[in-house]
Amino acid sequence: MSFRARHLLGIDHLKPDEITTLLDLAGDYVALNRRTVKHADALAGMTQINMFFENSTRTQASFELAGKRLGADVMNMAVAQSSVKKGETLIDTALTLNAMQPDLLVVRHPHSGAVNLLAEKVNCAVINAGDGRHEHPTQALLDALTIRRAKGRLHRLTIAICGDIAHSRVARSNLILLGKMENRIRLIGPATLMPAGVSEMGVELYEDMREGLRGADVVMMLRLQKERMDGGFIPSEREYFHRFGLDAEKLALAAPDAIVMHPGPMNRGVEIDGTIADDINRSVIQDQVEMGVAVRMAALDLLARNLRAERGRAAAGEPQWT
Ligand code: NCD
Repeated sequence: MSFRARHLLGIDHLKPDEITTLLDLAGDYVALNRRTVKHADALAGMTQINMFFENSTRTQASFELAGKRLGADVMNMAVAQSSVKKGETLIDTALTLNAMQPDLLVVRHPHSGAVNLLAEKVNCAVINAGDGRHEHPTQALLDALTIRRAKGRLHRLTIAICGDIAHSRVARSNLILLGKMENRIRLIGPATLMPAGVSEMGVELYEDMREGLRGADVVMMLRLQKERMDGGFIPSEREYFHRFGLDAEKLALAAPDAIVMHPGPMNRGVEIDGTIADDINRSVIQDQVEMGVAVRMAALDLLARNLRAERGRAAAGEPQWT
């Protein structure tokens, strides 16, 4: 099996063959999830703890369903009511949970790098469910599966990622993944919402959305991340929609069979016109949600296999992870 990672902290550390292995397995789980009886036993007897230090609807629900469908005991830690609010540090919280012997820890945190730090302190497998502006690997993987199924391939596509790139861990993880799979990537947005140094990343930059969309196979819209902005990044939401909101007129410039994506939650009328988001002939936004559960099942399954193998080696007195 070509998936060697101990944790899933980002796309950065995955090789293209590991990405393909995970997406192939996720494809099997899509089929399982469409059955009435959705149970598999890949995580039977294991404990999964979800720690979300930032609000989430679809990602947390998706990880919870994924763990349960694979037979794990899943606990959602209610961070809002936890001792974090009493001043406990992230590391102390992690060590406390670690002592309860979880096998899989799913963590979302507002600070970039917090999940990596935590992974160094615990002896279970850790999945990053989004850390600050850094990475959101399962989102990029579910986007990749959605694209692969809609387009029949995951290479040599022209993919336009539009909007608030600077604050988006979704954009960052997607950029890395889609780049590794040899696609042509265009970033579209106002200069104030482009991260520094992005021009060296082998992507094309556009401030004119109409130009950037021309002939694109995939149009990936991003939410305007107001909670990560501390000043005036855009003149007004109306002006933003006029220049960077996806509507029928702008979408007409993309390839005739272009698909429209959005990770959710959407700001209708700000970055995307509601009628485009709901157009079942163009929008794959609901497919993204469906693929999300399957991709998270695949990630949990592969990490659990590696964890079992590691523990088996340790029990046999063989050298552990190098
Ligand atoms: C994204 C996130 O939290 O980074 N949402 C998600 O996981 N579905 C994108 C966003 O919040 O805009």
